[in-house]
Amino acid sequence: MADKKVLMLYYSRSGTTRKVAEAIAALLGCDVEEILDRKDRSGVTGYLVSLKDSALRKPAEIEPVRRDPADYDLVVIGTPVWGFSVCGPVRTYLVQHEGRLGEVAFFCTRMLLGARRAMRHMAELCGGQPRAVLALRMGEVSKGDPRGKIQAFVEALRG
Ligand SMILES: Cc1cc2nc3c(=O)[nH]c(=O)nc-3n(C[C@H](O)[C@H](O)[C@H](O)COP(=O)(O)O)c2cc1C
Repeated sequence: MADKKVLMLYYSRSGTTRKVAEAIAALLGCDVEEILDRKDRSGVTGYLVSLKDSALRKPAEIEPVRRDPADYDLVVIGTPVWGFSVCGPVRTYLVQHEGRLGEVAFFCTRMLLGARRAMRHMAELCGGQPRAVLALRMGEVSKGDPRGKIQAFVEALRG
């Protein structure tokens, strides 16, 4: 892994996916890029707007990113599950960077359901299968101890 260039790329509306991204990035010692949405999705209004956008599969408008994923050997992509799929901002990023991602790995956080479908949609958008995947529930991240699962995911990336 030390000889591999790794990029951590994620979106987080309310901080759960960010927590996981930071824990993984700390173990990998990799570059990190947070996808920033131009729309204010905070609070209850932001939640409802996001629900509507995800139901309509409306593309998000995201800020330009600083790093080119094509410069990396492995890109680890994290998303919250929205409407049983990948969230709008990550979807937009993957569409914008079609053909520029080499090896990928995915992780997601969700309330309850939709992780497998979200991962499948990410693989379709990336045009390739992930090296490893990690799906965590929100409660596991906020109240539980996800360190074992995060460690196993990192080991799978290193292996
Ligand atoms: C617009 C929207 C849609 C969501 N859809 C789902 C869903 O389909 N399944 C699920 O289990 N959780 C769903 N959730 C809950 C989030 O996936 C979960 O709270 C996630 O951990 C939030 O991550 P974040 O704090 O990084 O934004 C949804 C949340 C939002 C805002």
